[in-house]
Amino acid sequence: MTAPVSTGPNTNVDAAFGIDIGGSGIKGAIVDTRTGELKTQRVRIPTPVPSTPDNVAEVVLELVTRAKWDGLVGATFPAIIKNGVARSAANVDPSWIGTDVDAAFTKATGRDVTVLNDADAAGLAEVRFGAARDVAGVVILLTFGTGIGSGIFLNGQLVPNSELGHLELDGHDAEDRAAASVKDKQKMSYKQWAKRVQRYMSHVEALFSPDLFIVGGGVSKDADRWVPLLELQTPIRPAQLLNNAGIVGAAMAAAER
Ligand code: BGC
Repeated sequence: MTAPVSTGPNTNVDAAFGIDIGGSGIKGAIVDTRTGELKTQRVRIPTPVPSTPDNVAEVVLELVTRAKWDGLVGATFPAIIKNGVARSAANVDPSWIGTDVDAAFTKATGRDVTVLNDADAAGLAEVRFGAARDVAGVVILLTFGTGIGSGIFLNGQLVPNSELGHLELDGHDAEDRAAASVKDKQKMSYKQWAKRVQRYMSHVEALFSPDLFIVGGGVSKDADRWVPLLELQTPIRPAQLLNNAGIVGAAMAAAER
């Protein structure tokens, strides 16, 4: 099924199983979609190698089976997801391109699965329950991890698949310059890496003039070490749901589509 177009509070069901598919781990939990709280402990299974559609679908099945969950399921995926179909594969196995991820997971699990882009999911959760709660205007969430993900919201409404991590920056794909993985690979300090982030976020700011930036991904737990170094006109808040944003946003997408 397609991702939701509304982030309004018209939840049809009060719980769904949320799954966050990442490059190293696949995590899932039952989510109370009215409060954004996890109703069960998060279970993490390492991402299979190679991370092909069949292998990942097996892990998705294992997570819902372990939780004895028969209801709606939402899953994030780190690529463009258009009407349930993956349209890119920047950091995942190329065999995903053209795969109907919704249909594949629905078939593998026998449950109704809704798939959406990982940063869009994190943004849905932050807009409803976290750092962008009740914020009007244009909110841009950027996740810094293996790549750079983005979620754009206007008055709480998602504009899906924005892919701002692939803006061109100084002749490079922006995520190749400013993702958190680049900091790790090049053994940069937060101070050094913050310069890259500054250059990138100034560019995004000039293009969109947002009212608020939310910065997420694993590095948001160390936000105090790099966010204060950024000089932008737009207010910046670290993501609040940290590790759970993807799971919560995925469950919301399933509950509200
Ligand atoms: C992908 C996006 C994804 C982001 C974060 C990028 O390389 O193109 O779809 O949201 O990484 O995982």
